[in-house]
Amino acid sequence: MVHPSIRIIREEHAALATLMNAFEKALLSGPGDQPEVFFDGMRAMLFYVDEFPEQLHHPKESNLLFPRVARLAPETMETIVLLEKDHATSESAVRELQHLLLAWELMGESRREAFVETARHYIRFYLAHMQMEENVIFPAALRVLSDEDWRELDAAFATNCDPLTGQYKRNPAFDRLFARILMHSPGAVSGST
Ligand SMILES: [Fe+2]
Ligand SMILES: [Fe+2]
Repeated sequence: MVHPSIRIIREEHAALATLMNAFEKALLSGPGDQPEVFFDGMRAMLFYVDEFPEQLHHPKESNLLFPRVARLAPETMETIVLLEKDHATSESAVRELQHLLLAWELMGESRREAFVETARHYIRFYLAHMQMEENVIFPAALRVLSDEDWRELDAAFATNCDPLTGQYKRNPAFDRLFARILMHSPGAVSGST
């Protein structure tokens, strides 16, 4: 049986990877003759990757999963330090992208390359981050966590809320935003709009 906590993180990773792919497709398509639609879509995507991981995804990893794994599998410590650094910097990286997007929109083509290059770098960075969690942290967790650890972790994840703080409950507004972004992104399945 797959532990619910691992399943939830995998599902969130899959959603974020889908969004990153849509983001990359939109970058390749460019604004064409519908710049307003393009920039609105880009803004929505950046808003989502700014808020969703910060509010709902990283806290579960940083507060619930990583500390248990670090304690029981100290060999993962180096990776966890890197992942925590990514969590700490990803918000400012998205803020920089939001600024670069605005620069492109308001200042024109001369600012396009800076946004596209930084966005491509961010997409690679984020996909690599999720891969590292799945390839290093998940196997270590499955190896070292006890049944009781899993019970506690799964219980905390099931309510999507830290029992100690009661924070970061699921927010259906993110699900709606996610669906809207994908419906309007280039290459969306026809008839889905
Ligand atoms: Fe993470
Ligand atoms: Fe993650």
